[in-house]
Amino acid sequence: MRVFVTGASGWIGSGVVPELIDAGHQVLGLARSDASAAALTAAGAEVLRGTLDDLDRLRSAAAASDGVIHLAFKHDIAFSGGFQAAADADRRAVETFGEALAGSGRPFVIASGTLGLAPGRVATERDGLDPGSAAHLSGGPQTRHGTADLTLSLASRGVRSSVLRLPPTVHGEGDHGFMAALVGIARDKGVSGYVGDGANRWPAVHRFDAAHLFCLALDKAPAGSVLHAVADEGVPVRAIAEVIGRHLDIPVAAISPEDAAGHFAWLGGFIATDSPASSALTRELLGWQPVQPGLLEDLDKGHYFHGPSA
Ligand SMILES: NC(=O)c1ccc[n+]([C@@H]2O[C@H](COP(=O)([O-])OP(=O)(O)OC[C@H]3O[C@@H](n4cnc5c(N)ncnc54)[C@H](OP(=O)(O)O)[C@@H]3O)[C@@H](O)[C@H]2O)c1
Repeated sequence: MRVFVTGASGWIGSGVVPELIDAGHQVLGLARSDASAAALTAAGAEVLRGTLDDLDRLRSAAAASDGVIHLAFKHDIAFSGGFQAAADADRRAVETFGEALAGSGRPFVIASGTLGLAPGRVATERDGLDPGSAAHLSGGPQTRHGTADLTLSLASRGVRSSVLRLPPTVHGEGDHGFMAALVGIARDKGVSGYVGDGANRWPAVHRFDAAHLFCLALDKAPAGSVLHAVADEGVPVRAIAEVIGRHLDIPVAAISPEDAAGHFAWLGGFIATDSPASSALTRELLGWQPVQPGLLEDLDKGHYFHGPSA
């Protein structure tokens, strides 16, 4: 297939592109900068210069492709107070892809998340689909949820659409996300913390396992599928803190819920959530089997504790 990939230069996209090329697909990647374009060329992809706001360009690239994987998201503005604007741009891009692909039967896969789907119990692919399930959300997160629903609804318009939900921790060498932030906070504070008894669980996946699932979704996910790229169903945050404490040789300690926002900064809103998730239905549907190290094993390899960001 000739596959159009947005966010191809990102953390997950740079895992997806080689996986697609190894599987024999041709990749056209969207790049908004010279650096991203160079990275895509080096990975063996063709480059389409442009941004998520160049809707005409997105439309014609999608129309000329055999499938689309949409991974770009304006995290830069989302994490500096502009989540709604980022979610709105994402929505417009998905609407554009929907129009371009309607009636084609071609695959369209987008990234979404598992966080907050079913707090306190194991979320499955079926959660978050019933009407009203996003009632507790507002603003940008609600818009993003609606964009996932829109993607699924494209199944009735002749698009083989699927939504691939990622856990908040997509780990691996070079990670600059949640896990790297947690390590950085522990180093700065001189203590590796968890909130309360630390029994709350985080699901996780290695980015190469997630990348493989994007390719399986492109190849064979039935129209309207929800998929979970979850390898570790739920790792207790205390266990994560213990590995970090051991590697940094610092104490591991409980942080009170009142002090969590001060201690964990922007992670304070997430660190105490209990948000395990299952991928049993995805594994059964697509035969996906994670083969990379789990989160604790990956942390124990040591790469989070040295290198430029360490
Ligand atoms: N990583 C996780 O743990 C996680 C968890 C849940 C959901 N997700 C979702 O999975 C998707 C991929 O995440 P990621 O971790 O790979 O993100 P990332 O590393 O931040 O990559 C984002 C990608 O989007 C591109 N991009 C950003 N703004 C753009 C714009 N205005 N126009 C065109 N391209 C733009 C970036 O291009 P540049 O290379 O030029 O910056 C990059 O290729 C996102 O939808 C994300 O929200 C990720």
